[in-house]
Amino acid sequence: MAAKIIDGKAISAQIRAELAEEVKKLQQETSVTPGLAVVLVGDNPASKVYVGQKEKACEELGLVSKKYVLPGDASEKELLDLVEQLNNDPEIDGILVQLPLPKQIDENKVIAAIHPDKDVDGFHPVNVGRLVIGTEGFKPCTPYGVIHLLKRSDVQLTGAEAVVVGRSNIVGKPVALMLLQENATITVCHSKTKDLGEVCRRADVLVVATGRPKTVTADMVKDGVVVIDVGVNRLENGKLVGDVDFDAVSQKASAITPVPGGVGPMTIAMLMYNTVNSAKRRAGVPVMA
Ligand code: GUN
Repeated sequence: MAAKIIDGKAISAQIRAELAEEVKKLQQETSVTPGLAVVLVGDNPASKVYVGQKEKACEELGLVSKKYVLPGDASEKELLDLVEQLNNDPEIDGILVQLPLPKQIDENKVIAAIHPDKDVDGFHPVNVGRLVIGTEGFKPCTPYGVIHLLKRSDVQLTGAEAVVVGRSNIVGKPVALMLLQENATITVCHSKTKDLGEVCRRADVLVVATGRPKTVTADMVKDGVVVIDVGVNRLENGKLVGDVDFDAVSQKASAITPVPGGVGPMTIAMLMYNTVNSAKRRAGVPVMA
């Protein structure tokens, strides 16, 4: 049986439409408009595209976006000074410093300099700690998007066997913690896992984020599994594929995300979600769950 396609494009569009309503309501009731500062250092072409997409999303939803561009040879101090200025800017609810940064700048130092309550990327150690403890804080956008995809597709997480393949700080580790928070039983696999297929076959929900095409093949999943493919890989023939052998695995899965059009569109939607929630905190109104 062919799997149901979990349509990230449609779900993210729905979230963005809901957020546009939330922004309108917030402005009417409190006159607060959510503001996002996006900082770009240098001229990495991919980063420029991402920053452009983030600005466009802000515009569509009625958020104020302020873009700051520093030259590629900017010093760490220049960037830290800008972050400090944005920390103190009362109209900025979220600060996003686009990664990667040029090599003369220590990324961890910059992330740590962002005020945790404006860290809409959810990368600051304080927000990582909040995620571990399970208290309110910003959750990183891509894994948070995975959870929203699962919830809006009515996938049962309580008691589910959830297997995460990949242990990155940006996806694998945080998505495992979020699934645990949803009462799933979690297993995290990585490059040193002895028998990946054996572990993956236990999964009711399988999240794959390795950055390697065909990490998961059809023999490695059980019938009815729900598969979330976080990977984005460009093949030599120019085709964009995920980390899962989509054609074969979708014959066994009950639901699966495509690449492109699965997790990808959710990341910016969740960045907007975090920024709107930050503005709600500033305005003193209840945040979205
Ligand atoms: N570069 C690639 N993805 C991201 C992201 O989610 N946040 C930031 N700040 N930089 C990135």
